[in-house]
Amino acid sequence: MELSLSKRIQRLKTSPVRKLVPYGEAALNKGIKIHHLNIGQPDIETPRVFFDAINSYEGKVLKYEHSAGIKELILKIQRYYERLNMNYSKDDILITNGGSEALQFILTALFDEGDEVLIGEPYYANYNSFFDVLNIKRNAICTYAEDGYHFTSLEDMEKKITPKTKAIMFSNPSNPTGVVLRKEELDNIIYLAKKYNLYIISDEVYREFVYGENKAISLGTFKEIENRVIIIDSISKRFSACGARIGCVISKNKEFMNAIFRQCQARLSVPTLEMVGASALYDLPENYLEESKVLYEKRRDTIFNELSNMEGVITREPEGAFYAFVKLPIEDGEDFSIWLLSEFSIDSETVMFAPGEGFYATPGLGKNEVRMCYALDEKDIKKSMNILREGLKQYRSLRGF
Ligand SMILES: Cc1ncc(COP(=O)(O)O)c(C=O)c1O
Repeated sequence: MELSLSKRIQRLKTSPVRKLVPYGEAALNKGIKIHHLNIGQPDIETPRVFFDAINSYEGKVLKYEHSAGIKELILKIQRYYERLNMNYSKDDILITNGGSEALQFILTALFDEGDEVLIGEPYYANYNSFFDVLNIKRNAICTYAEDGYHFTSLEDMEKKITPKTKAIMFSNPSNPTGVVLRKEELDNIIYLAKKYNLYIISDEVYREFVYGENKAISLGTFKEIENRVIIIDSISKRFSACGARIGCVISKNKEFMNAIFRQCQARLSVPTLEMVGASALYDLPENYLEESKVLYEKRRDTIFNELSNMEGVITREPEGAFYAFVKLPIEDGEDFSIWLLSEFSIDSETVMFAPGEGFYATPGLGKNEVRMCYALDEKDIKKSMNILREGLKQYRSLRGF
């Protein structure tokens, strides 16, 4: 008899962001330098205080810490939220292994197999991994490059709600589109959540990365719906500390938080030293976040200027996070990305993007789109855009567009 795996795990697909890795490795083996616009890994140095705090750790035994997270870190997060005019008690915050574990715990706590989530597409592709394992159906509201990927109308959203819909979910600012939800969009979300008795899962890991006149309004600031709001947070992007794997779940709903806590207990603890380092990050002066935002805003301007001047490319100015979602004058973003890695380079350099299709729930959508992460320095962004421009010309004439 053959050994077999669960049906649940067979639904789990390879991450679209990592799908191109073998092609990248082959390019590297040929001596090609790759500009990685495919993955949301900030390039700026993790602040020294993180490492210093870990080096000064005086414990003699690296023991399991409290399943909810260390008190010091929870307190620092509470204060950070106070500065944003949101009051959370220590019981409203549970530390997790990154925003990713927060996500997994939240979905496990809320959804039974076959339940539905209302979500704007394109959305963060990794959500699919958890949706698939838990068999959560996506009721996707399509948004378009031409509208800057904003929700177009309340009706579009409402008609996707069924009796099986449990929650509305989004990242704000958005990975992959860079959208920052406007007050009217949030009002619509709140209206629907109240009308249909839904939870709101607000993934705010990019909260500080908001540019120009845009403002990221946290769902945590709406008192009247506090019992249905769940916030996902993380230090990964805020402090350029993706490898620390520290995030949290925040909610004022006690029954829900208890469901999260039971999962925290089941996995015992988050790494102790990383929590110590993370606590120190929350002591950084406020201008730290302001300065990194200024840096990313310049990068946003650079990539947007370059893209705006490319023939046939459709994109709107990204408002937040550090991604641009872009419609290209081609048919297949994956084929194009593979071609860039396998057959094209300028001065032995090429670029890697994340093909757009993996960010959609609706089959066939996003085929001619790619996501670009601009968490790299301006010089490299410019070089990458030059490679894209020239690559597009050559690829289009090769494929007969
Ligand atoms: C929208 C969004 N949410 C959550 C995460 C998870 O981040 P982490 O697990 O590193 O905290 C990411 C990572 O890219 C993200 O883009």
